[in-house]
Amino acid sequence: MRITILCENTVAPGSPLGILGEHGFAAFIESSAGSYLFDTGQGNTLLHNAATLGIDLSRLNRIMLSHGHFDHTGGLIDVLKITGPIDVHAHPDAFQHRFALAKTGRKQTFRPIHSPVSAKKIKDLNSRMIFNTSFTQIESNLYLTGEVPRRAAFEMPDSRLVIKKNGKFVPDPLKDDQSAILKTKRGLIVIFGCAHAGMINTLNHIRRNLPDDKIHMIIGGTHLGFLSDAQVAKSIACLQSFGIKKIGVSHCTGGKASLHLMKVFKEKFFFANAGTDIRI
Ligand SMILES: [Fe+2]
Ligand SMILES: [Fe+2]
Repeated sequence: MRITILCENTVAPGSPLGILGEHGFAAFIESSAGSYLFDTGQGNTLLHNAATLGIDLSRLNRIMLSHGHFDHTGGLIDVLKITGPIDVHAHPDAFQHRFALAKTGRKQTFRPIHSPVSAKKIKDLNSRMIFNTSFTQIESNLYLTGEVPRRAAFEMPDSRLVIKKNGKFVPDPLKDDQSAILKTKRGLIVIFGCAHAGMINTLNHIRRNLPDDKIHMIIGGTHLGFLSDAQVAKSIACLQSFGIKKIGVSHCTGGKASLHLMKVFKEKFFFANAGTDIRI
């Protein structure tokens, strides 16, 4: 099994010449059952990085979307033009309009951050949208979490992320946030997009649905970079109880939380950047 990070904010040291970074996330997955893409980045680096790494995206069997933010969905149309009609998996809320609050001095603005791609556009390319809300098996060794119950009291949502309801900006519940799970001979590999549902909430949800499997590795955006120090400390303390062997952070984990994770998990910690190639 192979997992290669195709889009990420930064580039892995030692990557082939020419790999580019962008704010976003996409991971290529290759297993005996097929090839998959989890997220598509913003759309500026996906095809370029795949070509530079010698990865043939035309052979993809499926695409999965972690949630509807532009930095995870922006490359979707470009890749569907290469693959031809294939199945695209997402939560039904993944294409709704959403915004991020930005403050410049006293001025507040709401920046659109939803997917630039609509479900209709995907259907127009003759690809099939497959919506899921609950924990779903996609292939023999591949699962999607579906909606993740928000139970950990310390995993507060990011208050800057909003939707418009009846003319007012209200917190975005981001029900569409889901993660991918691969079953491997070493245990489960969890790939987060942004983990807006909470890293610990997501891991607990996986443990409830696959109680006989140990979590071997986590990869991806943990969204710890936008949260209070107290929350990050609690999340990281709780993460220690899972006995995870490899922790590869990306994207919205942020420098401060990455440093904290590195100190706690030592040799188990790594950065999963554009060009990072994981073989199991
Ligand atoms: Fe993101
Ligand atoms: Fe996000």
